[in-house]
Amino acid sequence: MDYFKVQKTLSLNGKINISGAKNASLPLLFSSLLAEGKHSFSNIPNLEDVKLSFKLLKHFGCNIEVNTKPVFDKKALSLSSVVIDVPKKLKNIAPYELVRKMRASILCLGPLIARCHQAKVSLPGGCAIGLRPVDYHIDGLQALGADLKLLDGYIEANADGLLKGANINLKFPSVGATENIIMAASLAAGSTCINNASLEPEVLDLIFYLKKMGADIIFSSKQEDGLDKNKIIINGVERLKASCHKVIPDRIEAGTFLIAGAMTGGDLHLNNVKACHLESLLKNLQASGCKIEVEKCGDDSGEDKIYLSSDKSITAVNIKTEVYPGFPTDLQAQWMSMMTQANGKSIIEETIFENRFMHIPELNRLGANIKVNKSTAFISGYAKLKSASVMATDLRAGSSLVLAGLVATGETQIHRIYHLDRGYEFLEHKLSSVGAIIKRCR
Ligand code: UD1
Repeated sequence: MDYFKVQKTLSLNGKINISGAKNASLPLLFSSLLAEGKHSFSNIPNLEDVKLSFKLLKHFGCNIEVNTKPVFDKKALSLSSVVIDVPKKLKNIAPYELVRKMRASILCLGPLIARCHQAKVSLPGGCAIGLRPVDYHIDGLQALGADLKLLDGYIEANADGLLKGANINLKFPSVGATENIIMAASLAAGSTCINNASLEPEVLDLIFYLKKMGADIIFSSKQEDGLDKNKIIINGVERLKASCHKVIPDRIEAGTFLIAGAMTGGDLHLNNVKACHLESLLKNLQASGCKIEVEKCGDDSGEDKIYLSSDKSITAVNIKTEVYPGFPTDLQAQWMSMMTQANGKSIIEETIFENRFMHIPELNRLGANIKVNKSTAFISGYAKLKSASVMATDLRAGSSLVLAGLVATGETQIHRIYHLDRGYEFLEHKLSSVGAIIKRCR
């Protein structure tokens, strides 16, 4: 199994191009199931989760054409374009072998029910405790008129004919449940209203593509135009048509590099990023002592350049993870890594996932001083980190260890980096290009 060797890095300097967002790409790829024909996407990152989604789409009968371009001195391939040709008749079973590795596979459920009126989808990985982790998806799709049963680890869905629009109140603004319901409701008869919906940038990117496909969707993130806050209204249409779309930049990848720059010091310049998606992080980075400047890219992409400069003297800043536009849970582990290097104590509260502190024992193995009480972590900085062998337990936990490795003395080995390959495109190449000493070993 591959692992990373990371050495203490003096500073990171230079330019990094930010990839397309993993969390926007996955729902977009599955949304293609809603319409027959050729869907063209650009800015899809070359990631394991994307390849898993391709496998699943091929299994449903789609034909996938991928154009690649060599990058980083031909050491890696980026996907310059992805065309998904969706057939008229889809196979509607998602087997365990294809679904188990990726929770986001559940996003095929809504489109399959809407298109085929019947579907059988294995419960995704990490759902051993039963229906609960996808209960909002199931409740929402049931409200649209589908009958869903859990049988032998599979969700079996039957909609007698067309789905019907409904009023759905989400108990929590779940990203995945909102996406599944929007996709299914786009082809339902009548109007669906999702209250307490997630309006993260990735959900909006999905909505923008669905609208290009002919969906009729309105939403409001603020109380305005007579529409309540965090409400999405989908007026079902009879048919959608394939279209084309460029995926938004990955705010979590961008955030991870900004935190790396803050920790190691130096001048980092991120290209192809949307600063408005990173407001909470940028504010906290400034509070911690970094200088941040934002400039428009100057083309018609609507994207920005972000310049960060840091002298490594980090002020301790408390954060609490929240739904967008609050501090993202997907940057919590990386922020914690940075806080081990701060001058003073800080507190991090995780409010989105109950069990998202698996990186703490590993950071402590590197010499951090972090204590936990339920969903709150107490970090005592400054901690002089020293290399050790550590293990990535999940995607973002893995990236927090890479960041810690960049400031730890000696050579840190990070194992189980297949988690990182799920969500960071060309991580070692991008970091090396700005001066990090990181090597993939087999
Ligand atoms: C998405 C992101 C993930 C991010 C998360 C929160 C993708 C592919 N993944 O995950 O990177 O960390 O949003 O921003 O986009 N929950 C339930 N029942 C449900 C659904 C969710 O209890 O049916 C709970 C979850 O266990 C969790 C919380 O709600 O505690 C948030 O989950 P959700 O917003 O659904 O996250 P995902 O869509 O899985």
